[in-house]
Amino acid sequence: MIRIKELSVTYKSLGDSCDALRNMNLELSIGETCAIIGPSGCGKSTLLKVLAGIIKDFEGSVEINGEPVMPHKQKIGFIPQNYGLLPWKNVSENIRLGVKIKNKKYAEDKEALAALLQQLGLRGLESRYPRELSGGQQQRVALARAFLLKPDLLLMDEPFSALDAMTREEIQNVFLDVWRKHSVSMILVTHHVEEAVYLGRKIVIMSAFPGTVNTVIDNPLFGVEDIRNHRDFFELCLTLRKMIKEDWSKWEKKQREFGMLPAY
Ligand SMILES: Nc1ncnc2c1ncn2[C@@H]1O[C@H](COP(=O)(O)OP(=O)(O)O)[C@@H](O)[C@H]1O
Ligand SMILES: [Mg+2]
Repeated sequence: MIRIKELSVTYKSLGDSCDALRNMNLELSIGETCAIIGPSGCGKSTLLKVLAGIIKDFEGSVEINGEPVMPHKQKIGFIPQNYGLLPWKNVSENIRLGVKIKNKKYAEDKEALAALLQQLGLRGLESRYPRELSGGQQQRVALARAFLLKPDLLLMDEPFSALDAMTREEIQNVFLDVWRKHSVSMILVTHHVEEAVYLGRKIVIMSAFPGTVNTVIDNPLFGVEDIRNHRDFFELCLTLRKMIKEDWSKWEKKQREFGMLPAY
């Protein structure tokens, strides 16, 4: 269980302070996928950084399986927006990097690596360097690295945003396939409503100013076969879009009140 209680994060710089998150609450079960969607600046990346143990200065509590976040103890996979691959290491070295950092005495699990290469369509590309790969292939390498680690929690910050629509759908399918085999707890930040509905068992809508959870939806369509072509899929996406739009108008109004946007 991942339990976030009354989480608040304030960035302070040069006498100025910014409430990135305020009194945020969220609970996720083990093995659950959660998509977080919300306007720019509402604290999505901040939340992932707290969960990854990168931001330690916060109020409230964050627990993974009953314990506070301890990146050295828990295995947390974090895929940043730019995939985080090292350009001077080849595919196979990049994939093994995550496990090697976590476990210095890592005995290579050749079978697990071979299975992941196969599942993610990376066989034959092992000795290529990131610059010799397409965006979709680099994304697969980042996923392979995260899955090889067998993380307790996988965090992904807008991981598919740089991909074109076709590649994105393909990678989302690959992701779901691999996720089903490993059933990792996963939190995905996305700008795409369709992606949230396709990949999130739970969909969290955040609002800004300050960032907090506005709505949590148990997605009835998660895991339904061929769901992208169902009418229900379009309807749920439409409803979510409306909810987000209403939120966005509230955010804009507040920005104007605080003089951060010009008055009408
Ligand atoms: N290092 C930082 N210092 C000061 N303010 C920050 C810093 N990082 C983010 N912020 C501010 O905190 C808020 C939330 O940022 P972020 O978590 O990146 O939002 P999102 O990922 O939802 O776009 C924004 O208003 C942003 O400007
Ligand atoms: Mg962000």
